[in-house]
Amino acid sequence: MTGPAGGPELAVGPTAGLPRVAVVGTGVIGAAWAALFLSRGYPVRAHDPAPGARHRLTAQIAAAWPALAALGAGTEPPSLLTWSDDIAGAVTDADFVQESGPETLDLKQAVTAEIDAHAPAAAVIASSSSGLRPSQIQAACARHPERVLIGHPFHPAHLIPLVEVVGGERTSAAAVAAAMAFYTAAGKRPIQVRQELPGHVVNRLQAALWKEAYSLVQRGVVTVAEVDAAITSGPGLRWAVVGPFAGQHLSGGDGGIAHTLEHLGPPMAAWWAELGQPSWTPDLVEQVVGQMAQEMTGTTTQRLAAARDRLVLGLLAAKSAEPDLPG
Ligand SMILES: NC(=O)c1ccc[n+]([C@@H]2O[C@H](COP(=O)([O-])OP(=O)(O)OC[C@H]3O[C@@H](n4cnc5c(N)ncnc54)[C@H](O)[C@@H]3O)[C@@H](O)[C@H]2O)c1
Repeated sequence: MTGPAGGPELAVGPTAGLPRVAVVGTGVIGAAWAALFLSRGYPVRAHDPAPGARHRLTAQIAAAWPALAALGAGTEPPSLLTWSDDIAGAVTDADFVQESGPETLDLKQAVTAEIDAHAPAAAVIASSSSGLRPSQIQAACARHPERVLIGHPFHPAHLIPLVEVVGGERTSAAAVAAAMAFYTAAGKRPIQVRQELPGHVVNRLQAALWKEAYSLVQRGVVTVAEVDAAITSGPGLRWAVVGPFAGQHLSGGDGGIAHTLEHLGPPMAAWWAELGQPSWTPDLVEQVVGQMAQEMTGTTTQRLAAARDRLVLGLLAAKSAEPDLPG
């Protein structure tokens, strides 16, 4: 059967029943994907070549589970997780493959080519890549490059709804639509990115903020902790509720964004012209790592991650009960 773009029929989504998912690469992101898919009742078959990876995956899923249970999953992970010692075995029956191996082009190409060689023709192959172009990844696929795309999550990937879906030069519209439907059915909030750019969209937005933050720290204007406090006590509180453009709309009162841009647009554009250009040096890295250690005084990485997850859960619950948010 062929789909609209001449490729195979791609029917991953709510109408196709519960999809069988292959997770290839089970590090930080792959494990979070596996936990999320299990929480939706999807059978998951996983593969990772690292010694001890199978054991680590079980532990990572157990660690993620309380948060997923709070979102409505059962109290224990279901017995739907199986393991394969090779890529072929992991993907051979899959409806959807989520690739989450290391972020190097050579490796992504080799792993995706092998997935493409063994996955059913109708399966979508999504790479979690944070910034590689899908055209580069699919170039190595000999069978069905048209079903290869980016499905970029956000850490912690089992909790944060956003997924960026990016097609490459050879990706079919049917594959993009199938991925959008698959992620939506899995409870995610996919956005379609219409051009291939290094870093997709959201990592570029973050990079823009980080560029200025690193510059301000390098110049001694503020410390790492002060930047974090400025965001978490300031615009960060708003950004989870209204995005940067809707925020400007609200800043204009009854005049909305048009009024904001009328009087604050020209100063904003002037600030763009003199934003900082930090130089990436060992001294800057040392400065940031040292100041980060000071910021962590009184807590631990594990406790901070747990606090983040608790508050994100509360925020997700509050947002889902709020009828007046845009989008
Ligand atoms: N960490 C993040 O915040 C984040 C967020 C979004 C997307 N991503 C992307 O997700 C992907 C994985 O990142 P991560 O942070 O989980 O890295 P990670 O280092 O935690 O995990 C990578 C895993 O890939 C495995 N691996 C190595 N060779 C492999 C092979 N040939 N086949 C299959 N698996 C192999 C490793 O053993 C490891 O378990 C990357 O593409 C990254 O850009 C990361």
